[in-house]
Amino acid sequence: MKTTMITGPTAGIGKSLAYQLAERGENLLLVARREDRLKSISIDIETKFNVKVKFIVADLTLPEAPKQIYAFCKNEGLDISTLVLNAGYQINTRLDEASLEEEEACLRVLGLSVIMQTKIHLKDLVKRGGGNIMVVSSIAAFAPTSNEFAVLYGPVKTFMNRFVEAINSAYNKDNIYATSVCPGFTITEFHEMSGTQDRMDKVPSFMKMSADDVATEGIIGMDKKKEIVITGALNRFLMNLLRFFPRPLIKIIGNALAGGRYK
Ligand SMILES: NC(=O)c1ccc[n+]([C@@H]2O[C@H](COP(=O)([O-])OP(=O)(O)OC[C@H]3O[C@@H](n4cnc5c(N)ncnc54)[C@H](OP(=O)(O)O)[C@@H]3O)[C@@H](O)[C@H]2O)c1
Repeated sequence: MKTTMITGPTAGIGKSLAYQLAERGENLLLVARREDRLKSISIDIETKFNVKVKFIVADLTLPEAPKQIYAFCKNEGLDISTLVLNAGYQINTRLDEASLEEEEACLRVLGLSVIMQTKIHLKDLVKRGGGNIMVVSSIAAFAPTSNEFAVLYGPVKTFMNRFVEAINSAYNKDNIYATSVCPGFTITEFHEMSGTQDRMDKVPSFMKMSADDVATEGIIGMDKKKEIVITGALNRFLMNLLRFFPRPLIKIIGNALAGGRYK
């Protein structure tokens, strides 16, 4: 059964992507840790839209997760035609404070698991004549890195954008297209989960987007086979400005706009 796999569909952007992709008729495989949410979202989507939804409880901090998910797809007869690699979180600590294990787990979810899940499904995509890969990255891939917390978040998102470029270079000939969706401040559970809701609350509302709007722009970009999709006109404008202004000035502006992020 032709199926779209989505990681991190139990909240925020991934949940919006799940509903919007199901609405246009795509069968789904949902991957996350919270089983209660996976169950209720699957039932709700199947009830609302005429599609099949399967889910697997998986913790993407674990190195064996991509293999477990792939084995589940094979057992259930799911032909994954689109991979939506969206799951993520950030660590709200200084690099010297977080334990090695904490940093490694976060890097795995944001980076290594994205690469391994892509890698494990690529042969099947090639064999079936093509497919799509959406990686939910961030404008943090382009913006100056924070001085204080989540030091590795921007760099790993930059790595994911480069990964998407590399996949396109190597596999467009096989009709496989990768898209990196780069949201700015988006209203989800992300900031609450990382203990940064107070900083998010200081960000002016005109800078924030809804998860639904981010998902819609991401899907349109993926359909158009765009490599990089910066969501929101303001974010696109600001990311273009980065090319013309010196980094120190960008940090001052970023600080004013983003609740002291660069202090
Ligand atoms: N919100 C923003 O402002 C913003 C801006 C730019 C980029 N992003 C990116 O957007 C993506 C989605 O974030 P969001 O804002 O929608 O956050 P969110 O509302 O907190 O949702 C995060 C999702 O990731 C899943 N997840 C987290 N850790 C996981 C793990 N170890 N294993 C499996 N699943 C895991 C969560 O599911 P379970 O907890 O059920 O496992 C949840 O479904 C992330 O990659 C993030 O970096 C967010």
